Amino acid sequence: MKAIQLHELGEPDVLAIHEVPIPEPAPGEVLIKVHAAGVNPPDLYVRRGFVNIPREIRPQVQLPHTPGTDVSGVVVASRSAEWREGDEVFGLLRFPPTGQKGRAYAEYTTAPAADLARKPAGIDHVRAAAVPMSALTAYQYLFDHVRPAADQTVLVNGAAGGVGHFAVQLAKHLGASVIAVASGRHEQFLAGLGADRFVDYTSQDVATAVKDVDLLIDTVGGPHAHRLLPVVRPGGRIGAVFPGDYRGSRSSWRRCTRTGRSWASWPI
Ligand SMILES: NC(=O)c1ccc[n+]([C@@H]2O[C@H](COP(=O)([O-])OP(=O)(O)OC[C@H]3O[C@@H](n4cnc5c(N)ncnc54)[C@H](OP(=O)(O)O)[C@@H]3O)[C@@H](O)[C@H]2O)c1
Repeated sequence: MKAIQLHELGEPDVLAIHEVPIPEPAPGEVLIKVHAAGVNPPDLYVRRGFVNIPREIRPQVQLPHTPGTDVSGVVVASRSAEWREGDEVFGLLRFPPTGQKGRAYAEYTTAPAADLARKPAGIDHVRAAAVPMSALTAYQYLFDHVRPAADQTVLVNGAAGGVGHFAVQLAKHLGASVIAVASGRHEQFLAGLGADRFVDYTSQDVATAVKDVDLLIDTVGGPHAHRLLPVVRPGGRIGAVFPGDYRGSRSSWRRCTRTGRSWASWPI
């Protein structure tokens, strides 16, 4: 089969098509004919050798590497009780992506049965492959880590992105009031997803435009993450989807609780 592989780390030109054997499913796994593979920021981080992650916590990438964790396709062989040949499935495979076997940028991939769900008939493979990692990330924050109450206000930073647009919808589903922060071209899209208020970060200073939110879902993070801290009420919460520097300096901000890494020593 053909697979897109990395034999060295770097920019997109290191991605190349190689002929490789079709992988063999192990017990408890299936072999999938890939119809679509999702592309997520971690694929880019792997390609560059995780240089955006502080050295102290940087994972190693084993080469050659076939990227891709999100997949949608059809089961063509099964060694699991859950799935049969012909089943249409989608899922997030073996995260974090450190090993080599059965990755999604290929004509076929293997998958642990438990990493898959049945693809709903109402969405095609391309849309299904775009869902798993970003939707699961948003779900994990809003349902497991920092679930908002129905009367609370949630600010989603990066609201039009892969994780952010699911976070907006899930927060609305929980009954929260949602402030969406994104660039102006996404205003209608986010209103259509149910956002109650829109702030264009390219033309407004979010930290002065918004006050007293109960929960900040920050999908942007990074070395300037602390600039958004003034929007959170004392005692509020932060769901840091990507590591950010949230050190801040005002004592009221220190009363916030945060889920996710705060990191001060940024390599870039
Ligand atoms: N995708 C995943 O499954 C996943 C899982 C775990 C963690 N993460 C992490 O979560 C982060 C977001 O991932 P994603 O897939 O949602 O990325 P994405 O689709 O590229 O979205 C990122 C969004 O960030 C916005 N943005 C950039 N600079 C901004 C700023 N200064 N202020 C406000 N918004 C800004 C952009 O908004 P505009 O387009 O409106 O300018 C863009 O829509 C990444 O760091 C990623 O590593 C992602």
